[in-house]
Amino acid sequence: MGKGTTKIAAERASQRCIEPACGASYAMDERLYSCPRCGGLLEIVLRPRDASGVWRYREVLPFADDAPIVTLGEGNTPLYDAPRSARYCGLRALQLKHQGCNPTGSFKDTGMTAAVTQAVLLGARTVVCASTGNTAASLAAYAARARLQCAILVPGGQISSAKLAQSMDYGAVVLEMEGNFDYAMRVIRDLAEEESIYLVNSINPFRIEGQKTVAAELLRQCAWRVPDHVVVPGGNMGNSSALGKGFLELFELGVINRLPKLTIVQADGAAPLAHLFAKLDLKSSAHAPLSNDALVPVEHPETLATAIKIGSPVSWKKSLRAVLATGGQVLSVSEREIADAKAVIGRDGVGCEPASATTVAGIKRLVAAGHIEAEESVVAVLTGHLLKDPDYVIHYHRNTLSAPHHSADGSQQERSLNGAFRNPPARLQATKAAILDHLSRAAEEAKADGPQLD
Ligand code: F0G
Repeated sequence: MGKGTTKIAAERASQRCIEPACGASYAMDERLYSCPRCGGLLEIVLRPRDASGVWRYREVLPFADDAPIVTLGEGNTPLYDAPRSARYCGLRALQLKHQGCNPTGSFKDTGMTAAVTQAVLLGARTVVCASTGNTAASLAAYAARARLQCAILVPGGQISSAKLAQSMDYGAVVLEMEGNFDYAMRVIRDLAEEESIYLVNSINPFRIEGQKTVAAELLRQCAWRVPDHVVVPGGNMGNSSALGKGFLELFELGVINRLPKLTIVQADGAAPLAHLFAKLDLKSSAHAPLSNDALVPVEHPETLATAIKIGSPVSWKKSLRAVLATGGQVLSVSEREIADAKAVIGRDGVGCEPASATTVAGIKRLVAAGHIEAEESVVAVLTGHLLKDPDYVIHYHRNTLSAPHHSADGSQQERSLNGAFRNPPARLQATKAAILDHLSRAAEEAKADGPQLD
């Protein structure tokens, strides 16, 4: 075998001595049968590329085999059965694809590994993004791995402290700005005109490439049986665009022979795409191109699901194209529906951040409206981990979570959400009798609540 044949493998693997005291490493094109240094046995060791749930799908990624990838072992996230959430939605079964199990706790990592790799290839010195928190945390981590300077723009006081903490710890330059995410997004696009600065918001098509591999990973976990519906939250619309691209490419390649219906769920107070979708004449718009100003931005987006508090989503055209191509829908749900759905997901032992729970809330609505049949196969994509926003969770369970309420006369007040699945901590005497008494009362209450979920 000539050296040329092993060139590609050399980028992904090496030969290593198994002796712990030696562990010497040799290139793949060296013709060896034992370790030249100590005589030990050799074994082939694969490089991290193969441990990544993104780069294992490199056949559909636009990078050369020897690209110097920046990876944290992203992807390979679990697909859970969620019987309580299924029952809550009125479905026979429901599966949750938990993208919050990525290295920085959100789906952003699957895209960031590709975008930061591209930044390195382009010779960028500084990588930047505007963010509601998760993109920032993810970029900060991948930039640290690549030793690039990283600047993040976040709407001051409007993102969860857990996400801010991540960006600070990973060494990013954190810029808290006045105004909301949409404003930060406009500023950052201006900044990215600079030669040395590389923008990695989801407007960046390389990030979408990384994120699209989730479609292949999900299908593999479903043994390549295509689910009837895949439901995702919608904010800046990168995730829905990426999943749509992933499924459509696999369909065009002949890997799958039908498409799942891709549905996007927004929060009522930040739902520009749901508003547009409701106005579309579906029969004609599937083919007629929409003008750039067809989407009317929400000037002051509002939601406690801060990750998706976005009024002017950058990638709306790509995501709408995917929804229309697959026969899905775009809808929005209330703050109370999001909060209760989040608590129900928690009762399946899974747990996610508020934005992710729009999916289960949306599915419940679509089942009630007859758009999803009880027997159909449905996957909800959870985008962020429960611990991304612990303040929200604690306020929900203590019943101190409130959201703005608009009255018919135009006035606005804060109203308690009064969640249906609250589970506040109890204060009691530290005695055996008090604890046993509390446990038996809690068991009785759980039995009374049971019919809703079990
Ligand atoms: N879920 C979570 C947890 C998110 O952080 C985001 C977006 C979304 C859903 C919506 O995804 O924007 O691709 O439609 N967060 C961005 C950020 C905007 O800056 O972290 P999308």
